[in-house]
Amino acid sequence: MSNVEPAMKQTGSPGWDGAPPKIHLQTFGCQMNEYDSELVTTILKRKGCEFAASEDDAEVFLFNTCAIRETAHNRIYARLDALKTIKRKRPGLVVGVLGCMAPNLKEELLLRFPAVDFICGPDSYREVPALIQRSRTLHDRGTEVELSEYETYEDILPTRVEGVNGWIAIMRGCDNFCTFCVVPYTRGRERSRDPKGVVQETKQLVSLGYKQVTLLGQNVNSYRHEGSDFADLMKAVGQVPGIERVRFTSPHPMDFPTKLLGVIAENPTLCSQIHLPLQSGNDRILKKMNRNYRKDEFLDLVSSIRETIPGVSLSTDIICGFPTETEEEYEDTVDVVNQVRFDSAYIFKYSERKGTVAKKLWADDVSEEAKSRRVTDLVRRQKEISLENHRSQIGSVQRVLIEGTSRKDDREWRSRSEANTIVVFADPEARVGDFRQVKIVGATPNTLLAELT
Ligand code: SAH
Ligand code: SF4
Ligand code: F3S
Repeated sequence: MSNVEPAMKQTGSPGWDGAPPKIHLQTFGCQMNEYDSELVTTILKRKGCEFAASEDDAEVFLFNTCAIRETAHNRIYARLDALKTIKRKRPGLVVGVLGCMAPNLKEELLLRFPAVDFICGPDSYREVPALIQRSRTLHDRGTEVELSEYETYEDILPTRVEGVNGWIAIMRGCDNFCTFCVVPYTRGRERSRDPKGVVQETKQLVSLGYKQVTLLGQNVNSYRHEGSDFADLMKAVGQVPGIERVRFTSPHPMDFPTKLLGVIAENPTLCSQIHLPLQSGNDRILKKMNRNYRKDEFLDLVSSIRETIPGVSLSTDIICGFPTETEEEYEDTVDVVNQVRFDSAYIFKYSERKGTVAKKLWADDVSEEAKSRRVTDLVRRQKEISLENHRSQIGSVQRVLIEGTSRKDDREWRSRSEANTIVVFADPEARVGDFRQVKIVGATPNTLLAELT
């Protein structure tokens, strides 16, 4: 897809009525939203805005929202409800809802939450300053939720804070239309960014001291820009001087780019770690989900990945209780988990989403009790597997990247292995962002414990 912008709408805000407002921005949802919040920060900083860490110091609250499951909705709804009281005490406060809820719910949000002054979808962030200005001066509730086929914010460098891992969106939107998923409706059509911009952002991150980047796309298999595909992009990013680790998420098990496997195997900066969302292990359910692969094809793909990248770490996403899923069909998912032995898995209860094909065609008919039981049993099984995988690493020496202090004990570091597993160890000399060689001495389902070699 070409990324030439047809006269992109530019924000019409001529400047502020008085001093630029102070902003408090809170992000919900996935890494894509984290990245977008960094773009919104740049857009507002260019207009002179400062950012407040605390709500007490801010004149504008922005919520970058997620719509993926009911649990995400509930968290944000509770927050928006609570604003009613705050707004009564601070009548000048402006509240904006950004992100995936905006295109999905539109006016519903304004109706339900009187405290919300404007909503702005993921392709309209250039309009945020104008929307704020409009609320402040005209007391008008603005709605910018159109989705674009072109917007990639190519000219906007995200505002980074110091860190270890930087997210980079390499594409936006999704054209896969898995029947359970709201993302194609909240983020619109798929479009890829120019690899030059992605490489430039990687260089920016290196210059700020970042050691790792994670490339983000809803389905990286279909990344295309002129002659370049995703494997070419990974190679180019991995060759940026100073970058130590490159990760990505997510590929789709259908039409998985096998060329990528060779590129990962040959380039040491590209981590031997792949997140490969399974969703279900049953052919009938996979078909109903519009996933376009069968159980045996998924298992064959895992074998070929492991052949090309020995020792590769695999993680996955699974949905339990998709409409009409029977116990036997759920057992097929358990069987894939047992056969593949993922290093980790995110396991979700099916959650009916507005606008999706699944909601239109099928009743959400698996009982809450069955969904919960399936999730709990599968989480328990995955924990056993993760623990066994982790125990088998005891005695090995691994290179880890320090991310911060351990949650349990601030004299210990929380770091990541190449497989992306959390490794906890002590080293009084080390700092965040350092690499160390450590020997694994203990294991839990979620962490490895280590000693400095
Ligand atoms: N593009 C990514 C998915 C992003 S959403 C991919 O295809 O890998 C992250 C995960 O949320 C999905 O993999 C899926 O497991 C889960 N998910 C999405 N919609 C859901 C729904 N309606 N109910 C429960 N889980 C859902
Ligand atoms: Fe949703 Fe499927 Fe697209 Fe992932 S690939 S974002 S699950 S529609
Ligand atoms: Fe991400 Fe949630 Fe949107 S998972 S893409 S923020 S719906």
